[in-house]
Amino acid sequence: SIDAVIFDLDGVITDTAHYHFLAWKQLAEEMGIHIDKEFNERLKGVSRMDSLELILQEGNRQEDFTLSEKEAMASKKNEHYCEFLKKLTPKDILPGIRDLISGIKADGLSIGLASVSMNAGTVLKALDLESVFDFCADASKISKSKPDPEIFLTACKGLAAIPNRSIGIEDAEAGVSAIKTAGMYAVGVGSTLKKADYLVNATEDLNWNEIKEAFQNWCLEN
Ligand code: BG6
Ligand code: MG
Repeated sequence: SIDAVIFDLDGVITDTAHYHFLAWKQLAEEMGIHIDKEFNERLKGVSRMDSLELILQEGNRQEDFTLSEKEAMASKKNEHYCEFLKKLTPKDILPGIRDLISGIKADGLSIGLASVSMNAGTVLKALDLESVFDFCADASKISKSKPDPEIFLTACKGLAAIPNRSIGIEDAEAGVSAIKTAGMYAVGVGSTLKKADYLVNATEDLNWNEIKEAFQNWCLEN
């Protein structure tokens, strides 16, 4: 049986992954560093400061700044990002997500959130989804960002759910790794997430009955 379903936020529930990319791109370009969508795959699920380090590495600039300069750069990126968030409304919930949530709720299962974003609360509020989650594991509750399993394990604990009876849903490579290391069943959104146990191209393809069936088969095999 299933204990809980735990969602990533950015890129799964809403397309804020794209806003993170645009905000980083703006900051990177101000420093003469070019980043594209392919590079951005490596930033998904990664904390703000770790993302900045990856971008500086990409431009061979990692030794050029002091910690306080880096902190100022990270806040600047966040200001760019928060400008995008101002436009966010419940209409920005990705296709298929409402039906998925309704299906999970209809089965009486707990729903959790696992997002390393310090803006997770603001995003959920803008989408009017705060009441959906029985427990939210966010940046304030963890010390290590994905691919470390800490955030998913924290969400399982908060929901009193056993990891190998729980499902995680992710759009990031780092996120799928975190789910698998936690011992959970991984649903991946995005065709490149080969390590996921169940893979769909986009959120509109998430079908609760099919996921449940695939999860039951996985349980029999494991
Ligand atoms: C994750 C995103 O959810 O949150 C990352 O996938 C982002 O792209 C990270 O860097 C941290 O977000 P924030 O809002 O704290 O800068
Ligand atoms: Mg994500």
